[in-house]
Amino acid sequence: MKKKVLVIHGPNLNLLGEREPGIYGKEDFESINRDIRLWTEELGLELLEIYQSNCEGEIIGKLQELRHEADGIVANMGAYTHYSIAIRDAIASVHIPCVEVHLSNVHSREEFRHKSVIAPVCAGVVCGFGKYSYRLALEGLAHFM
Ligand code: DQA
Repeated sequence: MKKKVLVIHGPNLNLLGEREPGIYGKEDFESINRDIRLWTEELGLELLEIYQSNCEGEIIGKLQELRHEADGIVANMGAYTHYSIAIRDAIASVHIPCVEVHLSNVHSREEFRHKSVIAPVCAGVVCGFGKYSYRLALEGLAHFM
């Protein structure tokens, strides 16, 4: 049976393409999601859902809702990565391997982006490869689940 993956995009990622293109690229959100759909298929995974929200509570709600269905999570929690203990606790609570993803190399940017409060409860972290960070995360997860 195919392993089921939940992909989560956090705040402001719906504006990809128009949001700070010098950092995040010119490709829009829908186009990146099309690639994510293709990649999950290529890797023999089932895409449960691609979910985007600008709200912490909604992201936590989605993690809880799909906690008995998902085998793995690929998550770009955006700025929440750096301070949301509530999202960290939600990831730890669902007992599903999660890969933290960032389009940009957060370690080469402002100091406040160097800290991730979710990394310690994730299986791994990929950053700096633009949309290919998602691809690498899916590959890693495929071998990890
Ligand atoms: C980001 C990096 C975060 O620091 C930032 O707040 C984002 C996007 C990335 O994908 O590079 O919203 O997660």
